[in-house]
Amino acid sequence: MEIIEFDEIDSTNDYLKKYYEKYNDFTVVRTIKQTHGRGRFDSVWESKNDLIFSILFKKDSPHHLVAPLSINHVLRKYGFNSCIKWPNDILVDNKKVSGILIEKVFVGKQINVIVGIGINIEKRHDYAYLNNINPKELLIEILNVYKKYCEYDDELLKKEYMCNCSIFNSNVSYDNTNYKVIDMLSNGELILENDEKTITVDFNKKDYKSLLNK
Ligand code: BTN
Repeated sequence: MEIIEFDEIDSTNDYLKKYYEKYNDFTVVRTIKQTHGRGRFDSVWESKNDLIFSILFKKDSPHHLVAPLSINHVLRKYGFNSCIKWPNDILVDNKKVSGILIEKVFVGKQINVIVGIGINIEKRHDYAYLNNINPKELLIEILNVYKKYCEYDDELLKKEYMCNCSIFNSNVSYDNTNYKVIDMLSNGELILENDEKTITVDFNKKDYKSLLNK
């Protein structure tokens, strides 16, 4: 595992999207400051002295499960009251502390997966932050746990994920209709059910945000 560190770049995801050819599996790019940090669905990811990094993988794995599980595991080990908010936000005391942006670049049959992670260390309005945590130590802990979760099979990952995410078995509203969340497909889609129908919700489609806990 190689860790490349910058003081300032546009975005660690964009860096790896540009230069993935130069780097091996499990290369980590970390920066202190991002000038164009991106979140999901073209949102802006603001950060200041936070833990900001991306990991390059040369093969696909269920990173949509491994990434949130790894962060959540380490935060709980540090004693934070954290949980996963489906699909892949991490909350501390019910406020978002971390976001994950997973992007894929295909070159013929070769896949490059870039898992970008931002964790708030500095205080900011309406978000949780991790006061007095050394970002570099946190990074190393997360990477070590990440490696371990990558060895889990899909069933075990799904089980772990479902235990650490409060949405399962809860009542939700989606498209102005009430459902219960009964399960998840291996690609991370949620399965919702009510007396009339069973549907799935895909987190790659923006309308998943209309899913509300009741
Ligand atoms: C989200 O919650 O919308 C995802 C936020 C992901 C932010 C991280 S910070 C490191 C990496 N580089 C980026 O430009 N974005 C991700």
